[in-house]
Amino acid sequence: MITPAARGGPAAALDPGLIPAPATITRTDRRWWRDAVIYQVYVRSFQDSDGDGIGDLPGVRARLPYLKRLGVDGIWLSPFYVSPHRDHGYDVADYRAVDPLYGSLDDFDRLVADCRLLGLKLILDIVPNHCSSEHRWFRAALSAGPGSHERARFHFAEGSGAQGELPPNNWRAMFGGPAWTRIREADGSWGQWYLHLFTPDQPDLNWRHPAVAAEFEEVLRFWLDRGADGFRIDVAAGLFKHPELPDSIDPEADERTRDSVNPLAWNQPEVHEVWRSWRSVCEEYTARDGHDRLLVGEASVPTPAEQAKYLRPDELHQAFFFHLLHAPWDAAHFRRVIGEALRDIAATGSTVTWVLNNHDQVRTATRFAGPDPSSGAARALAASLLILALPGAAYVYQGEELGLTEVTDLPDEVLTDPIFHRTGSRTGIRDGCRVPIPWSGQEAPFGFSTQPATWLPQPEYFASHTVERAVTDPGSAWHLYREALQLRRTLPQLGEGALRWVDTPPGVLAFVRGEGLLCAVNFGDEPALAPVTGVPLIASGPCPAGTLPPGTAAWWVQDIGAL
Ligand code: NOJ
Repeated sequence: MITPAARGGPAAALDPGLIPAPATITRTDRRWWRDAVIYQVYVRSFQDSDGDGIGDLPGVRARLPYLKRLGVDGIWLSPFYVSPHRDHGYDVADYRAVDPLYGSLDDFDRLVADCRLLGLKLILDIVPNHCSSEHRWFRAALSAGPGSHERARFHFAEGSGAQGELPPNNWRAMFGGPAWTRIREADGSWGQWYLHLFTPDQPDLNWRHPAVAAEFEEVLRFWLDRGADGFRIDVAAGLFKHPELPDSIDPEADERTRDSVNPLAWNQPEVHEVWRSWRSVCEEYTARDGHDRLLVGEASVPTPAEQAKYLRPDELHQAFFFHLLHAPWDAAHFRRVIGEALRDIAATGSTVTWVLNNHDQVRTATRFAGPDPSSGAARALAASLLILALPGAAYVYQGEELGLTEVTDLPDEVLTDPIFHRTGSRTGIRDGCRVPIPWSGQEAPFGFSTQPATWLPQPEYFASHTVERAVTDPGSAWHLYREALQLRRTLPQLGEGALRWVDTPPGVLAFVRGEGLLCAVNFGDEPALAPVTGVPLIASGPCPAGTLPPGTAAWWVQDIGAL
């Protein structure tokens, strides 16, 4: 994670009021992904088609028209590959097959075909740092024994202590407990240990073994050949570990922060070679048909200079900008973080990839709530209107457009997140943002399934957040998103480009895009004067003449002169 204090770099000397457009980009270089709005589909919770209470690919396909009407440019699908689902698909047992829970390869092909017809890009999630302990390679490693080629594809090591009874080093896993698990050898005796930076069900692959890189290149080609438009890369700063696996001076840092901060376990220089080779695979496909593929990385690294390395022109196209996931509802904080992101990413030639929500985070309608919980919904909407006006690309997480809040009262017995089961604590657990989408009706399963017992139970209050209601209510969050997405596509000021901050009273954030588009957000608790007097083109809530109420964002397009 890039901490604001760590930011700086060559562009830091620029006038802080003016954020430049990337110098190396001309209009003819523009690619679809540079300012795309991608909708994240958490497949398990989107739409069930076969009545098992779990979402699936035919369900996603059936709902594509909904997403087209919403107006997004494409979708990112969470992993749907064969998996024992100990981390809901981020533990892949077969990278080339669809889990029967989610459908079949034929279902995938049909989904691709419909995405094409509707002009929606399709981004898949790829998980290269670790696989499932049920992957054929890991099973083979267990039976092949120490020193074998099969074990060399993972990180197996002898334990420390007189009998090897202690882990090889002191690293901790991000989801709790030691980062090492000891196995029993084929004869039943205690044997070697293997490394897993998440859970024991997710053994880390050894990327210094050539078979690993070769395998993933084939996996990329497999899905590109079937029509994927790109990949969201899980833990893109992972893959390589310090070759000697030394002890860490702060072994609990990853577990404490739930972030990839152990400098011995993450962000090793060799990882860039992998992204170069994946980029060249994508370029090969682009050369064939002139159509860009996208690599967008979940690359959490300690400094902006480090993140910029992932975005060099021959590496990843984009990396998620995660700072707003942890930002407090505070104008000065937002302004600083946004300015830093634009400055640092402009220097790479990529575009900022704004994210407010995803399947790992507390939803904004809950996260941004002040002492009055009802403020959260308005603030979440204002924040969305804000990021949709910023230069670059944006991701929308399913349900954001329905104003869904985090479900915070799921009983312990239904929780599935390995974080809960490994730590015994609810801190950082992710089930609450993964509850199935309410589509229609007055009671669970709200059109998500024919099975009332959905994999996570839906709360009664979802009745007032259904798609059916949102679509028929012109004042709903859904209509606001839809309108904002349409405007974004048609207004020349939006999408890629530069941003100029406007002086405002404390608590209000405002900036100008291109000629005449002003976006302002009131982060305060009192109504503020709107920076201009005209009627907003769009606003996240009612704006009585000349005012910007608390927790409200608006866009104006008018001659704003020297504001
Ligand atoms: C990041 C994913 O977003 C998260 O859901 C997953 O648990 C970890 N990576 C491990 O793959």
